[in-house]
Amino acid sequence: MTAAPNAARMPASLVLAGAGKMGGAMLAGWLDAGLDPRATTIVDPVPARAIVDLCAQRGIRLNPTEPEPGAVLVLAIKPQGLDAAAFGLDRLVGSDTLLVSILAGKTIADLRTRLPRARAVVRAMPNLPASIGRGATGACASPEVTPAQRDTADALFAANGAVAWLADEAQIDAVTAVSGSGPAYVFLLVEALAEAGIAAGLDPAVAQALARATVAGAGALLDASPEEAAELRRNVTSPGGTTAAALDVLMRPDGLAPLMREAVAAAKRRAAELAG
Ligand SMILES: NC(=O)c1ccc[n+]([C@@H]2O[C@H](COP(=O)([O-])OP(=O)(O)OC[C@H]3O[C@@H](n4cnc5c(N)ncnc54)[C@H](OP(=O)(O)O)[C@@H]3O)[C@@H](O)[C@H]2O)c1
Repeated sequence: MTAAPNAARMPASLVLAGAGKMGGAMLAGWLDAGLDPRATTIVDPVPARAIVDLCAQRGIRLNPTEPEPGAVLVLAIKPQGLDAAAFGLDRLVGSDTLLVSILAGKTIADLRTRLPRARAVVRAMPNLPASIGRGATGACASPEVTPAQRDTADALFAANGAVAWLADEAQIDAVTAVSGSGPAYVFLLVEALAEAGIAAGLDPAVAQALARATVAGAGALLDASPEEAAELRRNVTSPGGTTAAALDVLMRPDGLAPLMREAVAAAKRRAAELAG
């Protein structure tokens, strides 16, 4: 995981292709981190009202007739739209443009086939909390990516939360299975804890409110603390107490750890199946 971003590390110019849920969320973080709106171009055939308004307010170029390649081209369209969009997108790649793709399942080789002008490519997998600047992104760089380009990509991802660089592109499927899909596992934990609270005798509304606040609060505490998660867990577990009784169930050999391993392995397999 790397340091916080700053304006000096933002690219001199950036083109964002696809300003949907993820593209729009990432853009908000970049602007907050100091990306120059006047050096920013958005290409999106049917931009949402919020994007149109943002562009008008901040002076961002939106769908210019002849878009110029920038220092960075970020691809945030749906993966299934890549083939149809490839010709137009390739024209947004200049000789020194860094291509950054967040398209699930599209490898660096797939991207090069569709956008033959691309040389330096970073492939990344962000996650949903990027929309509040609390995302986790796993990223890998092709050998053509210069140290300066990698630093720029790092600053862009860091503006959306934590970033981890991978030595090997093959690990992206594991990133997808851990942090890409991970927020859904945590939401499920809230649902399961609330259901268990109802079974233990609480009113549904009370169980749901307590489960939600507990997971959100524990996450915030973890974030604020220098301690590892295992240490925080041990700190709240008195020997022979109530938490220990519950953890004896969750940590038995067929408990949460093997179930999570199985779930992550299934997601990783699915990510590999969807590639191409
Ligand atoms: N959402 C997540 O949690 C998440 C997490 C990790 C990675 N991703 C990746 O992020 C990418 C975008 O996902 P999303 O959820 O943000 O999808 P989305 O909301 O549908 O956004 C995609 C945007 O791209 C636009 N678009 C379509 N064709 C285009 C073209 N030729 N040129 C420029 N823009 C074009 C779409 O416009 P229309 O609506 O008019 O088609 C839409 O505004 C996907 O590749 C996904 O794998 C998403």
